[in-house]
Amino acid sequence: MILHRVLLVLHVLPRLLIVSAYPSKLPCNFPAIFNFGDSNSDTGGLSATSLTDPVGWPNGETFFKMPSGRNADGRLLIDFIAEELGLPYVEPYLDALGGNFSHGANFATTLSPILDQNSTLPLGFYSPFSLSVQLSQFLQLKKRSQVLYQQGGTKKYMVPREEFFAEALYTIDIGQNDLTSILFSPNMSPENYLQDALQRLATVIKEIYKTGGRYFWIHNTGPLGCLPYVLVRPPVGSEEMDETGCRIFYNALAEKYNAMLNETVVKLREELPAASLTLVDVYSAKYHLITHASNYGKIHLFYIVTL
Ligand SMILES: *[C@@H]1O[C@H](CO)[C@@H](O)[C@H](O)[C@H]1NC(C)=O
Ligand SMILES: *[C@@H]1O[C@H](CO)[C@@H](O)[C@H](O)[C@H]1NC(C)=O
Ligand SMILES: *[C@@H]1O[C@H](CO)[C@@H](O)[C@H](O)[C@H]1NC(C)=O
Repeated sequence: MILHRVLLVLHVLPRLLIVSAYPSKLPCNFPAIFNFGDSNSDTGGLSATSLTDPVGWPNGETFFKMPSGRNADGRLLIDFIAEELGLPYVEPYLDALGGNFSHGANFATTLSPILDQNSTLPLGFYSPFSLSVQLSQFLQLKKRSQVLYQQGGTKKYMVPREEFFAEALYTIDIGQNDLTSILFSPNMSPENYLQDALQRLATVIKEIYKTGGRYFWIHNTGPLGCLPYVLVRPPVGSEEMDETGCRIFYNALAEKYNAMLNETVVKLREELPAASLTLVDVYSAKYHLITHASNYGKIHLFYIVTL
């Protein structure tokens, strides 16, 4: 079962990863998580910006019992990763009202692309917090948190300790919004667009590496062609769908991105020999979940699949 395999991988890999790097350390000993991404891992970032209406009910209703800023009624993958590592949920960097970043920060916002877009919210569609902006925010946090830490007081207990940056798990889940932005870039072939996007992604990982980050946990992109917003805007004829009702063109685009991402990660492993880069096949897990939804009890597909 693909899903079980992936969940197993989620449980087992951090252990393998850390064991091979520090044989004497306890498994899963990451003191912090720094996350970069889009709605798939947005724990309240875009909601905090007020660029869109705050994410309201029924979001959060099954787990947090209140709107949590996530585009989900429960927890996201990033929440389960935090739980598994024994860390607090990763708080949105943009939350000006009481964010506690002592064990990491979440730079992801809903609708974030890798590549900067001309048409950002509220004028258009995309979040202005592209991956490059998220990197700048991370660098800013890294620098300023050490000043705050040294100043002491309560702020000291709201920012990561300096050594956490080298020991942290860096999680990345982004790319989905670049797939849709390709359609608004008629002057560029999808191939070239994806190449640019992945080159940027590689640059960001190298920048984090330069600052001392070593453990990278990268999700590939999910089956975009199965998402409701892709199926209804504009409505699709049956000839454009596969046997499970997903849109063929968009899933092919996602698979193309994933194949290129895989190549990018292979290359990064050669270029950054001291780094651990784990590529997680989220596409297969989500595709399985969507096509076998009835095996897993009551699942609201709308909530599995977000922007
Ligand atoms: C976005 O803006 C940049 C810089 O102004 C320009 O080079 C590019 O063609 C624009 N892209 C689109 C899709 O309008
Ligand atoms: C921030 O969270 C950490 C870990 O949960 C906790 O130890 C610390 O006291 C919190 N800081 C403040 C100022 O509440
Ligand atoms: C990446 O490609 C290799 C073969 O080149 C394959 O074995 C592996 O499963 C791929 N990983 C993902 C996450 O698709």
